[in-house]
Amino acid sequence: MLLINCKNYTNMSDNDTRNFVRGAHEVSRNSGTEIVISPPQHLLKWLTGLGINIMAQHVDTASPGSSTGHITPELLKNSGIYGTIINHSEHRIPPDDIKKTIHTLKELKMVSVVCTQSVDETIMCARMRPDYVAIEPPELIGTGKSISTQQPTLIRDARSGMNKLDTHTRLLCGAGIVNGRDVSAALRLGASGVLVASGVVKVDEPLQVLEELADVFVHQPEEK
Ligand code: G3P
Repeated sequence: MLLINCKNYTNMSDNDTRNFVRGAHEVSRNSGTEIVISPPQHLLKWLTGLGINIMAQHVDTASPGSSTGHITPELLKNSGIYGTIINHSEHRIPPDDIKKTIHTLKELKMVSVVCTQSVDETIMCARMRPDYVAIEPPELIGTGKSISTQQPTLIRDARSGMNKLDTHTRLLCGAGIVNGRDVSAALRLGASGVLVASGVVKVDEPLQVLEELADVFVHQPEEK
């Protein structure tokens, strides 16, 4: 999976983001790589139906009904949203809430991607059996210096720790990934996919970079 987290960067207008999603559909179709896009929350529903799975950047543990201002998993499901990132470094939540959210998403048949900051946290969260855990060292986020080249042992150790668990949870990684070489290294170290934000969202030609990243998945089969 190639998951693009648009965060709340403002260099893309709402319409730019919509065009980016359309373009990503082409890239995904041509390369055969699964691309998922996580836009700013207010655009979620507007970006569904364009051929790309749309994922939330966060969801609250609140229940439907009297929960003013919260976004609930049920609302996302009703809007055709594929799943959600949970516990991103920029939006951390307590372990009990991570667990509860994974459980609710499973019941709704939605995909969960739990972000983690260390190998220990990755293993702890993988035991909760989300669909994906995504290790991202916070100090590399947004730097253009990739986890896969700067801190390869994080991926390798997370991979080998997860191999010892009885779980189908897959490993993603992110932080500082900007080009095909970074993705290639991540896959070789045992990740099944990557999360990318600034390396795609903040460049002049986002689709060009997306194409480069997506191509790596085709030419280098993922290692489990
Ligand atoms: O969720 C992905 C993100 O935190 C990584 O950010 O800008 O380093 O690709 P970036």
